[in-house]
Amino acid sequence: MNKKGFIFDLDGVIVDTAKYHFLAWKKLANDLGIDFTEEENEQLKGVSRVKSLEKILAWGNKTLSEKEFKAQMAKKNEDYLGHIAKMDESEILPDVPRVLNCLSKNNQPISLGSASKNARTILERVNLKEKFNAIVDGNDVTKAKPDPEVFLIASKLLNVEPEDCIVFEDSVAGVEAANVANMTSIGIGSEDVLGHAKYVFKDFTEISEDFIEKLINE
Ligand code: BG6
Ligand code: MG
Repeated sequence: MNKKGFIFDLDGVIVDTAKYHFLAWKKLANDLGIDFTEEENEQLKGVSRVKSLEKILAWGNKTLSEKEFKAQMAKKNEDYLGHIAKMDESEILPDVPRVLNCLSKNNQPISLGSASKNARTILERVNLKEKFNAIVDGNDVTKAKPDPEVFLIASKLLNVEPEDCIVFEDSVAGVEAANVANMTSIGIGSEDVLGHAKYVFKDFTEISEDFIEKLINE
């Protein structure tokens, strides 16, 4: 049996936390008098906390002192943590456990590859931490997606070459990072947004065991 490396983004792929990031950023933007739409939010998916705030300020034509910038980031995270504090296994997205179990059954190594500094907390809350052979998150990288750093570290930890890694991503920046890393990108979401991925599925319910076996053996 071939060995591939399977790398999962967290927010919007494993758990439905993208909606909490949106709520927290929207509140922050509106409090600063900046409009914040769903389209703009799409551009923040997969993007680090610092880069997200920089983008929002640029859209609103606003600048903040370094101190105020840090205070706003802390406020956003506090708000976000309030949302995730109530999370449990029910917020794992449909069929994610089935796909993870199928990979384990086939002895395929699995890593997390997330921009979030809250990733470990969330995996613990939803009781999935044990499923991962490696975890790479926002605390382990210096460059944010679309830079491929997060996925390249995961590939090293799994001891699998980048071209043998498969990445599941819901964000434009994340699919780009996987492509730049020369990995197989699988977009989870809409074809309109993630058309640059090698494959796109609405969600994991559309991913069959046959397809997973095909990925392992190709
Ligand atoms: C990504 C999310 O996974 O993590 C982004 O898609 C978020 O929306 C980024 O900004 C950083 O997350 P956190 O939890 O460290 O603020
Ligand atoms: Mg994501």
